[in-house]
Amino acid sequence: MPHVIGQPTSRIDARRKVTGRADYAAEALLPGMAHGVLVGATIASGRVEAIDTTAAERAPGVVLVLTHRNRGRLGAMPSGLDWTTGQALDPRPPLADDHVRYHGQYVALVVADTLEQAQHAARLVAVRYQEQPPLVALDDPRAPRVAPEAALGVPLRIERSAPVAPLDIDVDVACGDHGDCRGALAAAPVTVDHTYTSPAEHATAMEPHAAIASWTDGELVVHSSTQYVGGERAALAAAMEVPVERVRVVAPFVGGMFGSKIATGGHAVLAALAARQLGRPVKVVLTRPQVFATVTHRPASAQRITLGAGPDGRLQAIRHHTVTQSLVEDGYPDDNEYVEPTTFTSRMLYACPNYESAHELVRLNQMKPGWVRAPGEALCTWALESAMDELACRLGIDPVELRRRNHAAVRPGDGKPFSSKHLLACYDRGAERFGWAQRDPRPGSMRDGDVRIGWGMATATYPGLRLGATVRLRVERLDGSVTATVSTAGADVGQGLYTVVAMTAADALGLPVELISVELGDTRLPPCAQAGGSNLTASVASAIVDAAGELRRRLGVAPDAPFADAVLASGEAAVEAEATSTVIVGETDRLAFQSFGAVFVEVRVDPDLGRIRVARVVGVYDVGRVLNPLAARNQLAGGVVWGLGQALLEGLAYDPVHGQPINGDLAGYLVPVHADIPAIDVGWIDAPDLDFNPLGVRGMGEIGITGVAAAVASAVHHATGVRVRDLPISPERLLG
Ligand code: MOS
Repeated sequence: MPHVIGQPTSRIDARRKVTGRADYAAEALLPGMAHGVLVGATIASGRVEAIDTTAAERAPGVVLVLTHRNRGRLGAMPSGLDWTTGQALDPRPPLADDHVRYHGQYVALVVADTLEQAQHAARLVAVRYQEQPPLVALDDPRAPRVAPEAALGVPLRIERSAPVAPLDIDVDVACGDHGDCRGALAAAPVTVDHTYTSPAEHATAMEPHAAIASWTDGELVVHSSTQYVGGERAALAAAMEVPVERVRVVAPFVGGMFGSKIATGGHAVLAALAARQLGRPVKVVLTRPQVFATVTHRPASAQRITLGAGPDGRLQAIRHHTVTQSLVEDGYPDDNEYVEPTTFTSRMLYACPNYESAHELVRLNQMKPGWVRAPGEALCTWALESAMDELACRLGIDPVELRRRNHAAVRPGDGKPFSSKHLLACYDRGAERFGWAQRDPRPGSMRDGDVRIGWGMATATYPGLRLGATVRLRVERLDGSVTATVSTAGADVGQGLYTVVAMTAADALGLPVELISVELGDTRLPPCAQAGGSNLTASVASAIVDAAGELRRRLGVAPDAPFADAVLASGEAAVEAEATSTVIVGETDRLAFQSFGAVFVEVRVDPDLGRIRVARVVGVYDVGRVLNPLAARNQLAGGVVWGLGQALLEGLAYDPVHGQPINGDLAGYLVPVHADIPAIDVGWIDAPDLDFNPLGVRGMGEIGITGVAAAVASAVHHATGVRVRDLPISPERLLG
């Protein structure tokens, strides 16, 4: 049996998708289904003084109008970061009281027989507000600032017995700090000290968030656009105050998520609540502006990076101070503070004996930010890699050479070995594929007629995560042949999980891919972590290999012997095994698991108009073993596209007076379109990380975005001599 792993394999669900037979959340048609439309606040800060629903209730077809006055009881939703318990997008339950903390926050749900009736009646809900001036800007001096305790559940501050140099901001000692940064910066022959900013960036999944809730005999079933059915089940069970066994969440297909569908939205909670009250299914789908206003986004940020180096470019100190936005408090406990974990990256990317970090949060009247596309790494590499380019320019050292000189052979700070690190090979191979040796380092020196050409590069990185999966493998006889079914609750959100699961099972069992069925995205299936953190392939594939091994042992089949014959010979109608992969979050006691890469960008800039075209991108990545090269290319190039959006286009803007998102739709919020995207050449080292899992795969969903924004900014500087430190790099930033 030829092996399928490593072979470019088309998606096994492709035909279903292109023929409209892939079931997305909003597409379920349930008998008697009613339609809910959410009404959002038209202020960003203040109170609902009066809400009159009389006209809405009298409108044709309306069956229910929920507001904070008649909502009834909801249980407290989990807001911690425990992946097994789920969490709420907004830590405050929907329609909790008359407080308004951000524009678009739900103030009513109108349910009617048809969508049009609900839309009509939603406009008849009359709300009078008491408005306060909202806080919408990161640098607003009125906005409360706090130093967070933890990021992604990992402590940011620790107690140390040894005295350390004080920081000039309100933070004691930060976790991950090492050496004497203050002293080393003072002594360093060369320092670079700049602040890099970025606006709120939205996940912008194509499929809007949607939920259809129905109750049968006290059991809740929710068709939901979620990247984590298990978490959504736990969050909804908590809100509805029913045991988790009485809740089923179904998400066989999800139309993109990028972090925004990990947590459970108020729309799903209110759909479940309304469905229970009405005794009929209720569907709620967010409008595009509601997605932008009420679903998590990457926080706006300001990162100050201070580098100290010797004349040879070797780093002597790195200092990293990150300020990101958070949501205002109003009395509801928010133990799930979202802190963009930027310093997890800066503390380990380069060999540097002295490191110091700090985080601050600024509380604003905007939806609570959260996970979006390489949270932490995408922002850190924007700032740190820009600073590295500035250091390279300052010292006249080639940017690739500067990174080589600062390569970390072991993890800085604690000296833990990396399980498998091939970053130097990424630099070499990327530079060669790009033709980096031809670069004239002088800014503005490379031209094509009037067009200025710029070449920039950056390091990419993302941790190796396994958040755990249980997989059931069932092999059945069928007409003298055998078939297999692989089942797990993990979701295929577009990354290609169906296919890679089938491929892994095919090789593990020695069966053709065509004979493998895959069931995903349903809490009735064996539990599985979220499709997030680029972890699912590593988590699920490990469990498949183990389950197949268990079946082989049981039937006495040697690892390479054909499996089907043994099943047929055994006389059993079906054999079944389950296996669970353990959780690894970036490290074990012994090893650190981290992916790396190098990304090279060519921009062409029209100096009169400030127009920037990205002409080509080369990225080479060390992501462990690649199971499906077709999907890998798709994931990595897709990540680069995110990075180009972050670099040049994206930014959610808020009106400073009323706090309303002013470009919160797909016309105003710019993302790259096909015409913006050049040839993207992605490659990989393909070195299996066998300490991470039996297949050696580390995942590649998010690393593609990392480093891209800095590579583009560095290329723009190389083309024009203008250093842009604020994203996005829009044309006006290049015009004097
Ligand atoms: Mo991703 S931001 O880990 O879904």
